Amino acid sequence: MNLAVIGSGGREHALCYKLRKSKEIKKLFCIPGNAGTNKLAENIKEDISNFDKIYQIIKEKKIDFVVIGPEEPLVNGIVDYLSKKKIKTFGPDKFASQLEGSKAFMKSLCKKNKIPTADFGIFQNFDEAITFIKSAKMPIVVKADGLAAGKGVSICNSKEDAKIKVKEIIDGKFKSSNKVVLEEFIEGEELSYFSVVDEKTFSFFGSAQDHKKVGEMDTGPNTGGMGAYTPANILTKELEEKIKKKIIEPTLKALKEMGHPYKGFLYTGLMIKKNEPYLIEYNIRMGDPECQVLMMKLETSLAQIIKAVAENSLENLKINWNDKSCMTIVLCSKGYPDKYEKNCEIKNLDKLIGDENTQVFHAGTYEKNKKIYSNGGRVLNITACEKNITLARDKCLNHLKIINWSKGFYRKDIGWRVIKNEDNKRKI
Ligand code: AMP
Ligand code: GLY
Repeated sequence: MNLAVIGSGGREHALCYKLRKSKEIKKLFCIPGNAGTNKLAENIKEDISNFDKIYQIIKEKKIDFVVIGPEEPLVNGIVDYLSKKKIKTFGPDKFASQLEGSKAFMKSLCKKNKIPTADFGIFQNFDEAITFIKSAKMPIVVKADGLAAGKGVSICNSKEDAKIKVKEIIDGKFKSSNKVVLEEFIEGEELSYFSVVDEKTFSFFGSAQDHKKVGEMDTGPNTGGMGAYTPANILTKELEEKIKKKIIEPTLKALKEMGHPYKGFLYTGLMIKKNEPYLIEYNIRMGDPECQVLMMKLETSLAQIIKAVAENSLENLKINWNDKSCMTIVLCSKGYPDKYEKNCEIKNLDKLIGDENTQVFHAGTYEKNKKIYSNGGRVLNITACEKNITLARDKCLNHLKIINWSKGFYRKDIGWRVIKNEDNKRKI
């Protein structure tokens, strides 16, 4: 089949990397792609919010299947639009995409179905929100209801700060919605649990831990993700059973009963407190940069998995993973997540050898006259697999030294929680 991946980040490069290995794929396209996907697929420059233009490309290039990487086109209904035109897609429909597109929708679904999550209130009226804050414990979590490109969540230590954040949201800081969700702060360890879902069942699709803060030791503002590793060692069989039974199964059942069975990747963002999982967020897509490490661990053909979801035959497919530990470190433009320079040349990339255990996945890059330039905040994902997380990080850091890009920066402490323990074990 001819397949197109929509998106231009490290996640989409990793998806193309894995799809390229699938025998089932004849031609692979990436819309719009980056300098990395260009080596594996035909990049087609197009505005991915323009569904009519995407449809034209699909017809012209005889594309049989479309995999949607980022959340925005999913939340805006690309699956409904293309399905009406009889194009096969991979991803949830507009209704089910509210799991990520509206925190108010997600929290209400949790409440109705007794899914463990932080206690909350949903407000559109400033005075009512303030009354809630007055009797709440600090810190309190203030969240914009709609998509906010990772900038919609604030953890407020004072009632004053919470009021300011609430006012900004209700006054329309985020165009997607002016509703605000106020949430109890749950102290614990974060875990990302991935599933692939069809109308009948769902399968485990990896675990990972992300590092959202820009600074080392998890300091500074939130970003899209500065690095991740897999597997997440806090995930035990017992915890996994709880996540499936208490969170994922009731969510999928509820969506089915509402007439919109979920299909595609489902990213469950959890807080683990005293070995109990609490749902923090759903993402209706693969994580970025989590996808980069998971694609290095996945052994089963990704095209086969995608086809099985389309045919609702996932229950007959065994998904296999290698037993490596993988890490990705994100090389960012200096200044990210605030202002940063673009169009800066990145040298030495050709000195890195890509193989089954080491890959550089591109994000904000483009190629001009055989040179690679930066084009965004998160630029490259240096990804390595090894026997354990400590060795995987050593390998990533060695590669980063070779790139030696003066306009870039990265966190050297990705995986610090597990590495501390691995080091202890090594000493014993
Ligand atoms: P979200 O966009 O909902 O994932 O929130 C971004 C980050 O804020 C999460 O990854 C958590 O680190 C943190 N966070 C969100 N909600 C809560 C909560 N109720 N309690 C503690 N931390 C939270
Ligand atoms: N890495 C976080 C996300 O993809 O939302």
